[in-house]
Amino acid sequence: MFDLVERPRRLRRTGAMRALVRENRLHAEQFIQPIFVREGLTGSADIEGMPGVQQHDLDGMLRTTHAALDAGVRSVMVFAVPKVRDAQGSRACDVDGPLTRAVAALDAEFGDDLVVVADLCLDEFTDHGHCGVLDAEGRVDNDATLEAYQRMAVVLADAGADLMGTSGMMDGQVGAVRAALDGHGASNTGILAYAAKYASAAYGPFRNAVESALQGDRRTYQQDPANQTEALREVRLDVAEGADIVMVKPALGYLDVVAMTAAEVDVPVAAYIVSGELAMIEYAAAAGAIDRRRAIEETLMNVRRAGASVLCTYWATEVAGWLAEESRA
Ligand code: PBG
Repeated sequence: MFDLVERPRRLRRTGAMRALVRENRLHAEQFIQPIFVREGLTGSADIEGMPGVQQHDLDGMLRTTHAALDAGVRSVMVFAVPKVRDAQGSRACDVDGPLTRAVAALDAEFGDDLVVVADLCLDEFTDHGHCGVLDAEGRVDNDATLEAYQRMAVVLADAGADLMGTSGMMDGQVGAVRAALDGHGASNTGILAYAAKYASAAYGPFRNAVESALQGDRRTYQQDPANQTEALREVRLDVAEGADIVMVKPALGYLDVVAMTAAEVDVPVAAYIVSGELAMIEYAAAAGAIDRRRAIEETLMNVRRAGASVLCTYWATEVAGWLAEESRA
């Protein structure tokens, strides 16, 4: 026998003991399930690069959302793919546009039982694929884009969105959207701010999901992956402008940013496990390199442990099902 004063392994001896001292847990109610709705689609369609994720018509969206709620997930994030696009992204602000209609259908079906986050961005609606409108030189025009975001926010609030997912990374977008909502009498509609959003290669499959028209990249508005301090600035600005929840995106490569953000703010912190991060795990699992379920559970726990309470993940409903199964076992 060695004379060891501390033996940390005692607390790992049995499953019950490990559960007793577990520091972090996953809860389905803290997941957000992203959903893709495609205008003109009948039924559902697979998405290249996103195994297990589909685009839906409105019926399919409602069915998917029922399944999420049945599993214990109570929030969805809606993205829409329009049939036609233009330079201004005008269908984003159309009351009959696909996003507005999807949000209204969810609100009518689920009311207060569901938190509906509407993606507030122009990229799905512009024919050039950028998150804003362009100036005469073809550059993304920050302030003209803010005006479009304000129009979009009012339409989405009327449709019944609970939270605006401001994902465009324009300067001042949270303040502009907050002012538009308040001016419209929608002071109860909140803002889930994509505060620190990086120009990441991990959005590749998502661009298939929304059939993005983007040529080039988003480096003049999304953050440089090399920067950390800048994230604190973005987060500070969004909180000052009225963000109700701040999000870091992507999640896995940016756990340092999640942890810093959680240490800095007094609003809830969310993190988005993005399409490319899903793809890395799905394809590695499909190749037999890793155990799929364990890798997914561990991944979500990593993000939770780093400090995000809210997890936006394509696996939300499936993992919620596992959690329910484990709590019955
Ligand atoms: C922009 C938006 C993007 C994602 C969410 N919102 C794409 C982008 O910034 O290029 C990516 C999500 C993912 O990759 O899962 N509206």
